[in-house]
Amino acid sequence: MALSKRVVWSILLVVAIAGAIALNDLLLPRSWYSSSSPYQAPYASENYEPATAETAASFRVELPANYRDRLVQYVTVDCPNSRIVRKMFVNPEALAALRTNNTPPSGTVLMMETHSAQPDSDGRLRPTQLNNVFVREKRDGWQVNENSGDWRSAWYSPQGSLVSNSQSSCIGCHTRVRDRDYLFTLPALLTAANTGQRQYQETEFRTSVCR
Ligand code: HEC
Repeated sequence: MALSKRVVWSILLVVAIAGAIALNDLLLPRSWYSSSSPYQAPYASENYEPATAETAASFRVELPANYRDRLVQYVTVDCPNSRIVRKMFVNPEALAALRTNNTPPSGTVLMMETHSAQPDSDGRLRPTQLNNVFVREKRDGWQVNENSGDWRSAWYSPQGSLVSNSQSSCIGCHTRVRDRDYLFTLPALLTAANTGQRQYQETEFRTSVCR
């Protein structure tokens, strides 16, 4: 009898200690373990997720302030089938560098506005409404993965609020033009740099995403 009582008390003691440890884990804020990043919490090994293109994307490519005044529009691309007009902009420093070099330098900022449009009497599309603003920025060492080049991306609303800075969808498509430094309109950009003239073309690519 005395022995079984001792066993019961021992079991109760173990349960109480385990309960106290569990409660302690629940009550202590995660930040107590790690002052900077929740990913570095030492106990997190079983929940550990390696950095992906998404989690590495804690940076943000900013929407350049006053871009319509500061950046240069180098091409207008019409998409007659979907009645979309795309306007592409570049920072003047990169445009100047591209007069003597065919590869966009570190520090290049490219933007694309997408507009709904209606056909004009002359058959050209006339933009009626700005729908999206896309930004790609190149910096040495900004490679997200082997398909991204040194480019990072962000998608903004017409009002300038961030819609998404997920990298994977942008990379998935722009990697198709890896041989153009991941820029679909690199030929138009180089022509604009060399002639000082804004270019105009119909889309070479019937993709939907840059609506
Ligand atoms: C389905 C394919 C596809 C995806 C996904 C895509 N793009 Fe594009 N992007 C294009 C095409 C095609 C063009 C050129 C427009 C044209 O010629 O019709 C372009 C052009 C651009 C340009 C102008 C510079 C250039 O490369 O010509 C920017 C800036 C841009 N995209 C940003 C983005 C961002 C930011 C994302 C992710 C949020 C993204 N794109 C996702 C297909 C895509």
